[in-house]
Amino acid sequence: MKHLLKMLDLSTEEIIDILNLADQLKYEQKHGIPHNLLKGMTLGMIFQKSSTRTRVSFEAGMYQLGGHALFLSSKELQIGRGEPVQDTARVLSRYINGIMIRTFEQSEVENLAEYGNIPIINGLTDFSHPCQVLADLQTVREYKNKLDGLKMCYIGDGNNMANSLTVGCLKVGMDVTLACPEGYHPDKRVLNFAAAYPNFKLVSSPKEAAADADVLFTDVWASMGQEGEAEKRRIAFKGYQINDDIMSVAKSDAMVMHCLPAHREEEITAKVLEQHANEIFDEAENRLHAQKAVMVRLMAAEN
Ligand code: CP
Ligand code: NVA
Repeated sequence: MKHLLKMLDLSTEEIIDILNLADQLKYEQKHGIPHNLLKGMTLGMIFQKSSTRTRVSFEAGMYQLGGHALFLSSKELQIGRGEPVQDTARVLSRYINGIMIRTFEQSEVENLAEYGNIPIINGLTDFSHPCQVLADLQTVREYKNKLDGLKMCYIGDGNNMANSLTVGCLKVGMDVTLACPEGYHPDKRVLNFAAAYPNFKLVSSPKEAAADADVLFTDVWASMGQEGEAEKRRIAFKGYQINDDIMSVAKSDAMVMHCLPAHREEEITAKVLEQHANEIFDEAENRLHAQKAVMVRLMAAEN
């Protein structure tokens, strides 16, 4: 593994290896066992969109690994004035040991990887959010002690989270059912990948998707960059909500996951969110551990 650009690039073995290392690093951190695996290294973090979890977990994670993280807002970089990402990649490769980037186009992340010669980590694009899904899988495995054979359902927009969850969950052997309204299906590349899996279903009824589910996921109806469509989307997604009615058809011990930030009473009710706050905030915490594992695998010299 040279980069983390999207879930489609990872093998099942690579995913499980990252989850195992994430569990180990979490244990070590909780028990005060130092792990200075990236001593003296620097991660550059380029943000073209807002962030709370991604920024803070990468920065804290890098510090815990003995390294240093640089917050690089695209507004302040020359990228914001039109310097091409290809040149930025070649310059940054001379100074630092890895780049995390959050941006719009997936092609921008792929370009960075092509032109730079240091590891690139996708911290969210319109197409994918692999760091989030690795943390999600770590969390599900912690609660359920397994991944293979679990039934997951995703209700809502066929966005970056739906794309990455579909690929990640299928790769680790979960049954995947998505409920998305017409016109808001996941990306074609993801649907092509999923077509090879008999345990994948895309339906329009949220209740059908939730039936007997072990884990329910949802995400915002309007992602970053789609603020102008919020009203139109509020109409299109009416009914695509995790609420008591949906939970009544899931397994009685079903988990609810949300990558956050959440819009209460849109994609999830405040009541369900609070009832499942333990797993949702463990999920947020696991961003730290899963990303530390990714950085160690990509950046530590001996790996
Ligand atoms: N879930 C997530 O990526 O959160 P931020 O946008 O706060 O980084
Ligand atoms: N789909 C959301 C995820 C935020 C973490 C977005 O792209 O805004």
